Amino acid sequence: MNGIFISFEGPDGSGKSTQIALLKEYLENKGYDCLVTREPGGTKISEQVREILLDPANKAMGYMTEALLYASARAQLMHEVILPALEAGRAVICDRFVDSSAVYQGIARGLGVDEIYKLNAYATEGVLPQLTIHLDLPASVGIARKKDQKDLDRMEQEASSFHEKVAQGYRDLAKLAPDRIKTVDATLPIRDIHSRIVELVETVF
Ligand SMILES: Nc1ncnc2c1ncn2[C@@H]1O[C@H](COP(=O)(O)OP(=O)(O)OP(=O)(O)O)[C@@H](O)[C@H]1O
Ligand SMILES: [Mg+2]
Repeated sequence: MNGIFISFEGPDGSGKSTQIALLKEYLENKGYDCLVTREPGGTKISEQVREILLDPANKAMGYMTEALLYASARAQLMHEVILPALEAGRAVICDRFVDSSAVYQGIARGLGVDEIYKLNAYATEGVLPQLTIHLDLPASVGIARKKDQKDLDRMEQEASSFHEKVAQGYRDLAKLAPDRIKTVDATLPIRDIHSRIVELVETVF
């Protein structure tokens, strides 16, 4: 694999999209060929799976169904987009990846972290990002940042206790893989967070 693979993780509203846009600009200015993608989604098929996953009408969805659908959207994204881009030597930045499943389905839904990683090893062909940026902030802060947004999706509509489990789940996960998952305080100003992320990214090139 010639390219570089970086994922961004964190609760809703933690600043993933904001920081990914800044990192993309930084890497492109340095001459890197950058590909930004997101989960669930990033391919025609994966975006169709995303609609099923995030449709608030799908209240009957079981947790295992949810985990398998995330994994299937991921498998298609890996096969169609991420692996070819890495083979071509590009810098791939993914907005959420396998750690989102570990936290949301493994911890917050209670399916088990090991079980979720095992399941996703099939979907990802065993490939993990070289670096995962974990944007850490209290769930309530993320929710407050998004309070003006109407139309919350099925996951965003979960109770605040669920979002607290997610925020804490990310902290616990980062401790399990400290070499790969780097935590950044997402309550800092946007530019300070970006500087810290650049320092971390420089260590993997
Ligand atoms: N460090 C920050 N301090 C204050 N506000 C921020 C910060 N970073 C981002 N924001 C604002 O918070 C909101 C959510 O940010 P953003 O969309 O980047 O988060 P996200 O993690 O991508 O959210 P989502 O989970 O919905 O995709 C935006 O209005 C953004 O401008
Ligand atoms: Mg976003």
